[in-house]
Amino acid sequence: MAALGFVGGEGMSDLITMDDLSNDEILEILDAAERLLPVANGDVYAPLLQGKVLGNLFFENSTRTRMSFESAMKRLGGEVVNLSSVGSSVAKGETLYDTMQMVDGYSDIAVIRHPRQGAAQYSADAIEIPVLNAGDGAGNHPTQTMLDLFTIRQAHGTLEGLNVVLVGDLRYGRTTHSLSHALVRFGAKLTLVSPESLRMPTEIVGDLQSHGSDVVESENLAGAIADADVIYMTRIQKERFPDEDEYAKVAGIYKMTADDLAVAKAGMIVMHPLPRVDEIDPSVDSTQHARYFQQAFNGVPTRMALLCRSLGVEVPKEVGE
Ligand code: NCD
Repeated sequence: MAALGFVGGEGMSDLITMDDLSNDEILEILDAAERLLPVANGDVYAPLLQGKVLGNLFFENSTRTRMSFESAMKRLGGEVVNLSSVGSSVAKGETLYDTMQMVDGYSDIAVIRHPRQGAAQYSADAIEIPVLNAGDGAGNHPTQTMLDLFTIRQAHGTLEGLNVVLVGDLRYGRTTHSLSHALVRFGAKLTLVSPESLRMPTEIVGDLQSHGSDVVESENLAGAIADADVIYMTRIQKERFPDEDEYAKVAGIYKMTADDLAVAKAGMIVMHPLPRVDEIDPSVDSTQHARYFQQAFNGVPTRMALLCRSLGVEVPKEVGE
């Protein structure tokens, strides 16, 4: 079922991987997100999405992604219908294809998180309303990348030429797959810090290098701190390991404390998509470097801008006026 009044052709407004956005589009969305900040924090009410319904489909656990999409939609005057694998007919064996047909009828835009890589693309192909990928297995997480880029630009004033260190589970971590791809398009130098068994997949490293970027792989976090502009910590993705013993070998391998940051540049920021397990000690929270809670809040304005874009709604130059 086609959404009435929808501007933009079929497929054009999906966001499945960062390849769906040009660099200029990324920057436009970040600008729109910045204009939406007063709406995101509740100071201004701007019902740009009044009458629109978001279908939130989470087949995997989520706190931030699900809540920030819901908050973004509601603060823009829109409505949200939710589906989770618990309490829905998914538990009765309904296929993803059939479930998506329902969402197509019940909402104007869908956000989907699913444990299977490729499920977001499959869903987008199955229906006509725009689909935003909120994480597909160990694949991609482009809306997280947009809020990560927003946070980086907020701190450094630019996305160009930064020295970014990605740390942790680079094999299964979808946030780092999408973020690294976007960063090299803006000329970042990347240091990929992981244990041997959790290295970034070689095809992704090859893609990163094909953009002409300086990409270094290492197992040593301490040695990467002094030169970093951004350190992006990640959780070891326990649920993606085929075998508990393999997880046990790498669990707790990186633990950043405030003392480790003594050598960091003054403006270096520590990010994390969250949830953290033990990779960032709470002592880091009160340092000038900690940016992860701000980063999580930035999900709201960024997802507002993404919802507006996919629904063909322009964010005015002066929001709320
Ligand atoms: C991440 C995810 O789901 O990939 N979380 C998030 O969306 N903020 C990271 C993680 O679960 O470790």
